[in-house]
Amino acid sequence: MADRTFWRSSTSTSPTPVPVRSWSGSSRPPRTRADVWPATFPEGQGNDFSGRVAEVGPGEAGFSPGDEVMGFTPRAAQADYVRSASDRLARKPPGVPWEVAAAIPAAGATAYAAVRAVRPRPGETVVVSAAAGGVGVVAAQLARLAGARVIGTAGDANAAFLRSLGVEPVRYGDGLLERIQSLAPGAGNVDLAIKLGVAPDRINTIIDGAAASRYGAHSDAQEQADSPPVWEELAQLVAAGELTIPIQSVYPLERVRDAYDELAARHTRGKIVLRVNPD
Ligand SMILES: NC(=O)c1ccc[n+]([C@@H]2O[C@H](COP(=O)([O-])OP(=O)(O)OC[C@H]3O[C@@H](n4cnc5c(N)ncnc54)[C@H](OP(=O)(O)O)[C@@H]3O)[C@@H](O)[C@H]2O)c1
Repeated sequence: MADRTFWRSSTSTSPTPVPVRSWSGSSRPPRTRADVWPATFPEGQGNDFSGRVAEVGPGEAGFSPGDEVMGFTPRAAQADYVRSASDRLARKPPGVPWEVAAAIPAAGATAYAAVRAVRPRPGETVVVSAAAGGVGVVAAQLARLAGARVIGTAGDANAAFLRSLGVEPVRYGDGLLERIQSLAPGAGNVDLAIKLGVAPDRINTIIDGAAASRYGAHSDAQEQADSPPVWEELAQLVAAGELTIPIQSVYPLERVRDAYDELAARHTRGKIVLRVNPD
């Protein structure tokens, strides 16, 4: 990492330190992680984090030791200290829990980009796949905030939870097309949406680039909204009570293997978070 700055979130200079690190709740089991994100060992893990600034590098401005921040450091966040460029940090609003702030930069930005790509409007229906997952739960709520009716695919165990967010649940798996059609003719995900007559310009996928190319649909994801202002905007929605980011579980860093085992079950509601140096 560049030596132009070194921000660290840590317990060392803070009177009431609560540094946390989080990682994205991927729906892919660990045995395929190497295929998706190849690693050369020794290799770090974890991307998003929140915590307090411990030290400020020479020549840097904008933050001071003790400031509460969140950020994204590729494969470096599951650690006692995180080094980050100042322009890759956002302020954590007071009142936003540490574990929620740590869950925002990757999944939140991905959801933000995906929803922005299809520009939902009042009176429209949006279908969000895996709507209880880390990305989906934010996307579903952002589409609701834009005024759209939102149908979210989920397992039965998440139906009541999604309803509590104003999202209409529909079970994924065989027969999904018919179930969506019965709820809202004219809505679906990439292949289903095409079959149902949704214009490609109103479809976004964050995992199926081939389908996006095939149909000319959007594939906007984290890269299209990967910025501290977006993280802060999402955090402000959380602080205002307009956005809920459920934290399924919090593990101490020492139990990172257990956290990945839980992730591999592929039924994370929201995010799984690692806590570093709890006091
Ligand atoms: N391109 C990017 O920038 C980017 C960024 C982040 C993530 N991603 C990708 O986007 C995907 C979602 O990420 P995530 O972090 O939201 O995942 P996640 O939190 O692990 O997703 C878990 C959710 O997936 C649902 N699910 C499990 N099996 C399903 C199925 N067969 N059909 C539909 N939903 C199913 C589960 O629903 P129930 O528990 O209700 O069964 C659970 O709520 C992943 O493939 C990830 O790699 C891409």
